[in-house]
Amino acid sequence: MSFPKGFLWGGATAANQYEGGYLSGGKGLAVADTLTGGDGIHNIPRKFIVEMPDGTKKEFGGRESLPVDAKAIVDPDTYYPSHVATDFYHHWKEDLALFAEMGFNVYRMSINWTRIFPNGDDTQPNEEGLQFYEDVFKECKRLGMEPLVTIYHFDCPLHLANEYDGWASRHTLDAFKVYVKTILTRYKGLVKYWLTINEINFTRSFKNSGIHDGYTNKAKTEQNYYHLFLGSAYAVKLAHEIDQENKVGLMIAHGASYPYSCNPEDVFAELNNAHDTKWFFGDVQVRGYYPAWKVKELEREGIVLKKEPGDDELLKEGTVDFYSFSYYSSQAIAAHPEELGVSEGNQTQGVKNPYLEASAWGWTIDPLGLRICLNQIYDRYQIPMMIVENGLGAIDKVEEDGSINDDYRIDYMRKHIQTMKDAIEIDGVDLMGYTPWGCIDLVSAGTGEMRKRYGFIYVDMDDDGNGDLSRKRKKSFYYMQKVYKSNGEDID
Ligand code: BG6
Repeated sequence: MSFPKGFLWGGATAANQYEGGYLSGGKGLAVADTLTGGDGIHNIPRKFIVEMPDGTKKEFGGRESLPVDAKAIVDPDTYYPSHVATDFYHHWKEDLALFAEMGFNVYRMSINWTRIFPNGDDTQPNEEGLQFYEDVFKECKRLGMEPLVTIYHFDCPLHLANEYDGWASRHTLDAFKVYVKTILTRYKGLVKYWLTINEINFTRSFKNSGIHDGYTNKAKTEQNYYHLFLGSAYAVKLAHEIDQENKVGLMIAHGASYPYSCNPEDVFAELNNAHDTKWFFGDVQVRGYYPAWKVKELEREGIVLKKEPGDDELLKEGTVDFYSFSYYSSQAIAAHPEELGVSEGNQTQGVKNPYLEASAWGWTIDPLGLRICLNQIYDRYQIPMMIVENGLGAIDKVEEDGSINDDYRIDYMRKHIQTMKDAIEIDGVDLMGYTPWGCIDLVSAGTGEMRKRYGFIYVDMDDDGNGDLSRKRKKSFYYMQKVYKSNGEDID
């Protein structure tokens, strides 16, 4: 047997892309509720419509910096995909039953902060929101699935973003701590697997962390990361204090990266890139302090983090139990990338790797890269790992008889699961679970599209909000069911 007994098999979703019910049950607005759809294939970005101090409206791309005094709004004439998304809020019983039928013994989902604290910093939590998740977790348990809960997945409360500059401000950290304490206390005994901050290494934009000028203001970006680290450490420490059974992981977007060539300049460029985009975040959350090269970088750039007494201790006391990460693709890194061609990733950009095929969205398909990452991470930290996102975003066709024959997705899954098997069996890594992304169709985070589908379950909803939200099992549903029910033995 390659996969250990009790291996966690499941799927992953996030509230802001899946839940909908954006104002139901006392929920407040999150930044994601003000983000429009886009078109990833034609590179039309998602947008924010903001109100400027003089009352005029302006549009900004989702990957642009915003003026610090701009306030994102919900424009009545604009379509926002997160408002309905694929409506877990009203379909949760049906969806959880489908996940259980597929053989999940774990289900990764996130709590929407604004369902619990509508403004993020309210004095009292919203009982209706707390009850909603309690019902969901109880149903998961009844169906034999452990909830794996992301505490923060790209859903900064809009109030904190507009008024406090999101995670750039210590006020947001303080509000987050109250939110964390509330949910850890309430769900004690119901949830034991937690993830702190989703893709913390990509959490520096208005979209992901509510900071207005994270792309252009380096000092503020570093302060934003610092607060996120403290928030994560606080969650880990408190989770352990509240219940010794709790296991808490970080969450990093961890694609593979390769030097473009054996030219030492390319090798060094890749080292620096991996430091900046991955290891910095792992080192702080696994080891509990900033790595030497980062300290030097901050000194060199004259950036002094605003710290408070007790912060250093908290970082040390709040180190994670396991390393969880998303893996979709890989990139090649060159010292002089001009003229070499870009390989699009969700949030990263490298140069085109001539050895790899890519998805319709330009994400390279690289199963062996996953094995390389598993080895590198395990070599560095020697703690258990979990792959909490992986999958293929593709356009699916519903045939006249209603079937969806997504053989391309099955092929992608098979190759990645084979890689996991090899990494466990041959390399001896400690892998504890696998929750592929968007196990049911949901809104793409990067592009806001519905047509970029990852699911094993199809949801009838398009890019303009048309569809009856009915669910259908794709061919990959049955494939994953076979894999899960055989504990990963039957993957052909
Ligand atoms: C990760 C995120 O970036 O990748 C998810 O944690 C996201 O929220 C997923 O949906 C896939 O990216 P995309 O842009 O295809 O939705």
